[in-house]
Amino acid sequence: MDVSYNPFSLSGKVILVTGAAGGIGRAIAVECAKSGARVIMTDINEEGLKETLASLDNNSGQEHIYYRANLTEEREIAELITFIPGLDGFVCNAGVMKLALTQFITTDEIERIQRINLIAPMLLTKYLVKMRKVSKGSSLVFTASAGGVYRVSPGNAIYATTKCGVDAFMRTVALELGPRGIRCNSVNPGMVETNLTHAGQFTDEQRQKELLNYPLGRFGKPADVALAIIYLLSDASSWVTGTALKIDGGMTLS
Ligand SMILES: NC(=O)c1ccc[n+]([C@@H]2O[C@H](COP(=O)([O-])OP(=O)(O)OC[C@H]3O[C@@H](n4cnc5c(N)ncnc54)[C@H](O)[C@@H]3O)[C@@H](O)[C@H]2O)c1
Repeated sequence: MDVSYNPFSLSGKVILVTGAAGGIGRAIAVECAKSGARVIMTDINEEGLKETLASLDNNSGQEHIYYRANLTEEREIAELITFIPGLDGFVCNAGVMKLALTQFITTDEIERIQRINLIAPMLLTKYLVKMRKVSKGSSLVFTASAGGVYRVSPGNAIYATTKCGVDAFMRTVALELGPRGIRCNSVNPGMVETNLTHAGQFTDEQRQKELLNYPLGRFGKPADVALAIIYLLSDASSWVTGTALKIDGGMTLS
């Protein structure tokens, strides 16, 4: 038996992770570093980025770095992509959610959530391709959601429609970039324990009720999503493109 055999290794790869200051993005950065990658992180929250950087394994001697950027600003996206080196993987993960019944939706909220959840992924991908920062063998992974793509729920229209947009974008880009040997996939998580789901979005009673929809009896942990992303970044998934991978503890089965 070859004990060093690891088809999921990211050794020698350079990976950009957005939304890396906490939650799922921090877990992605941690798992990428543990898997041997050099990690480049970005987020609007510099304090969180510093904490993530301090928690990264660099046994492989990699120099992990971060750039603070507000991904709702096209100029900051273009600057970020100019600064970074060529990539082997890109995880487009930053996102926001705000619940509101449709009758209370405002144009400002639609635009705010679309800017980070949908327009930023499109512009980041545009600049990565245009500035030739991704090439043959690269893997792009979008953090979409089970919400919208696989299930809808009251009060979640704005978020759900942005994630459906990400799904259509991911599949379109998979078609466009496949002939260049660049793969695009998404992960589509159910409810994961992060700030996004804890910052006053749901009452305890709503959470208990929602938990009944999870056959595995728990909500997700950030690492549950991060480890699936490691698979999609690694050469183990080299024949996988255009896939929206559900990671939801069975939530969408019923
Ligand atoms: N937590 C869940 O239940 C869940 C489920 C499905 C999908 N997701 C998706 O997972 C991704 C990560 O979410 P999370 O749960 O880790 O939430 P989180 O709030 O912990 O992390 C989101 C990160 O995005 C960053 N961000 C927000 N606006 C930004 C901006 N303008 N520029 C740069 N960075 C910005 C935040 O600072 C934060 O670090 C999101 O795309 C979210 O939609 C989360």
